[in-house]
Amino acid sequence: MQQDIPARQAAATTGERPVRTVRPRRYLMCAPVHFDVVYSINPWMEPEKPTDTELAVAQWERLRSLYLGLGHQVELIDPIPGLPDMVFAANGATVVDGKVLASRFRHAQRVDEGPAYATWFRDRGYEVFDGAHINEGEGDYLVTGDRILAGTGFRTDRRSHAEAERFLGRPVVTLDLIDPRFYHLDTALAVLDHEEVMYYPGAFSAESRRTLRELYPDAILATEEDAAVFGLNAVSDGRHVLLPEQASHLIDALWSRGFVPIGVDLSELLKSGGSSKCCTLEIRDRVPGASA
Ligand code: ARG
Repeated sequence: MQQDIPARQAAATTGERPVRTVRPRRYLMCAPVHFDVVYSINPWMEPEKPTDTELAVAQWERLRSLYLGLGHQVELIDPIPGLPDMVFAANGATVVDGKVLASRFRHAQRVDEGPAYATWFRDRGYEVFDGAHINEGEGDYLVTGDRILAGTGFRTDRRSHAEAERFLGRPVVTLDLIDPRFYHLDTALAVLDHEEVMYYPGAFSAESRRTLRELYPDAILATEEDAAVFGLNAVSDGRHVLLPEQASHLIDALWSRGFVPIGVDLSELLKSGGSSKCCTLEIRDRVPGASA
């Protein structure tokens, strides 16, 4: 699944490109040993199509090894039988400065994942806040250097945004999602570095598109083709950007901005409407690198 994309790498070493540095990360992941598509809560999920759990695990293992190879830490949470979407750890919580906003899922099929992730953090001494409103963790809350971008429209209740701002202590910017294919913010926008993002404008309301233009006039804009292959469900460590290798326009744009795109293949998980970012919850500790 890791594609070196050698020709582009060679081309990208010439010319004026910013130098990008890695900030080591700590991630939480959940092995897809119980993965399956047995219900449909987004347009990608077709329960009548077969899934291959073994292949899902192998693809996920490669993603995990890739993180480890890049020098990041990966923590694991035990998968729970009967929760086939628990592999999508990004939805399990939002963690900023060691504070954990617990998730509260919209659909009954995923409701039990919220307490499972909250317990993982409580057991390790984290301060965990249970909000009153539905929120699907980093599926809809994306943390940039200065603020939190917050999606709503399909899953996370906009009333949760105010709770997140109060509890996590960072300004929250509400963004309205309008295309059901891009039902979570992390399917429509990716944070690349401190205040650098890439996004697909068509996934957002006109007002949110205006907001994004004002906040990020230099953002990389994804084509519909990039978004449709889940190119925006990307994970960046400030230098390497993991994303589906089919997102060719984004891959070129990332090279030209000095990033190192790394192609990943999570075709099995895509059957449930998820890719690399969905599988990855970032644990942002108060003191970087400190274990809580
Ligand atoms: N089947 C899952 C759902 O619809 C996929 C979640 C993908 N996760 C994400 N962070 N976008 O809830």
